[in-house]
Amino acid sequence: MKKIYITTPIYYVNDIPHVGHAYTTVAADVLARFHRILGDNTFFVTGTDEHGAKVAESAKKRGLKPKAFCDEVAPNFVEAWKKLNISYDYFIRTTDPEHEKIVTDFLITLYEKGDIYKGKYEGLYCVGCEKFLTEVDLVDGLCPFHRKEPTKQSEENYFFRLSNYIETLIKAISDPKDPNHYKIRPDSRFNEVLSKLRLGVGDISISRAEVTWGIPIPWDESQTIYVWFDALLNYYSAPIINHRPDLWPADLQLMAKDILWFHAVIWPAMLIAAGIRPPKEVFAHGFFTIEGEKMSKTIGNVILPEQLVEKFGTDGTRYLLLSEFPFGSDGDISIDRFIKRYNSDLANGLGNLIQRVAALAEKANLTVPAPAENPILDLPYRVALDELSFSEALAYIWKKISDADKKIEESKPWELIKKDPEKADAVLDNLIRQIREIVELLLPFMPETAEKLQEKFRGPKIKAGVPLFPRIS
Ligand code: MSP
Repeated sequence: MKKIYITTPIYYVNDIPHVGHAYTTVAADVLARFHRILGDNTFFVTGTDEHGAKVAESAKKRGLKPKAFCDEVAPNFVEAWKKLNISYDYFIRTTDPEHEKIVTDFLITLYEKGDIYKGKYEGLYCVGCEKFLTEVDLVDGLCPFHRKEPTKQSEENYFFRLSNYIETLIKAISDPKDPNHYKIRPDSRFNEVLSKLRLGVGDISISRAEVTWGIPIPWDESQTIYVWFDALLNYYSAPIINHRPDLWPADLQLMAKDILWFHAVIWPAMLIAAGIRPPKEVFAHGFFTIEGEKMSKTIGNVILPEQLVEKFGTDGTRYLLLSEFPFGSDGDISIDRFIKRYNSDLANGLGNLIQRVAALAEKANLTVPAPAENPILDLPYRVALDELSFSEALAYIWKKISDADKKIEESKPWELIKKDPEKADAVLDNLIRQIREIVELLLPFMPETAEKLQEKFRGPKIKAGVPLFPRIS
């Protein structure tokens, strides 16, 4: 049985779950559901990132102790994922004591190997990013992501000898035969990482003297572990906490391009340093804007998953998010376009086909045999999903929908029902088989809808019922 362990980033717990977080999480969910259908031993983890300066600041604003604050807000993510029907196997929180212990032990391993040393750090820190920035990163002196001036920080920190691993990493990403080989996809991102590695990379600070909200450095309690060092290890702790260490290495780690460097360079280097195999693949998808603008609280254009679910339903939202633009590229979304696409693809396309065929089957009083047990997922669809080309996999399904529509137009079963009932039955029987195929392919993307449709078209008698996707405006 093939094993597949899929992860999303763990999102900063202080944030309100928004459509950006939902994008990655829905994508991961589609893959997890696809692999479960294939019969693979699937494990899908998401969760929340709960330590560090940013979370501590938010807790202070709310007048709460950091842990109490985290306990209050972490359920926001659990709720959001419930609304989107996310089928994670485990939700990890970095304040879980078991995770904290794994992080501590991991750090001690690196310390004992001599990969950690004390040094002085001077740099520009952006709390929004929870990372040091260089002059090159700044735009008009501001962090380009948070549009804030970074603060100058100078303190004694512990450093990880990342620079020692550059050659190892270059070999690991370039040579499929390397024992530490891992893939960085899409290719453009691989090239980006490779050229940046070739330019040379310095060591990184992995502790903070000024931040108290974090896991203490075991041999020096005046410092806490840098939030990213702690957070990345969630991927490794999740299987251990679940008593499934055999799930490691992760097979597919998803994120957007904003945090690719942490996942494609720092994370594998940490693992290799500790003698642990890196994940098999990291995939960085694009970033989307909303009507051409970066999504931000300041602009006030943040879209929440529940707003979408209210308007388009759970499956409608899942469909719209993944069909809008190719997964690896940057894109733009807008509610107006979502409405148009909902009406054309879901109300008209899928909804209309289902309604027409079911109504005709009812009228013809058709009897259909039970569907076959094992779905056969077509090769082009499988290939698209293996390549994380969600929009292509969906286009493949929608081509089948329009083919079925054409078939109805050509054969006019509503006339045949009177003129030639036997032929009408044959045509409708065929259409129902096509719909069943479409429904199988929809399962990972629109699970609730697909299950309802499986029920509806199971036979022996089919009823028209109510439309699944009434038009909206
Ligand atoms: N806590 C860290 C991740 C630690 S992982 C060990 C973090 N959290 S975050 O809350 O900022 O989430 C970043 C991720 O949210 C992105 O990598 C992406 O998955 C998702 N996105 C947030 N905004 C997005 C867009 N506008 N477009 C696409 N993805 C978006 O970084």
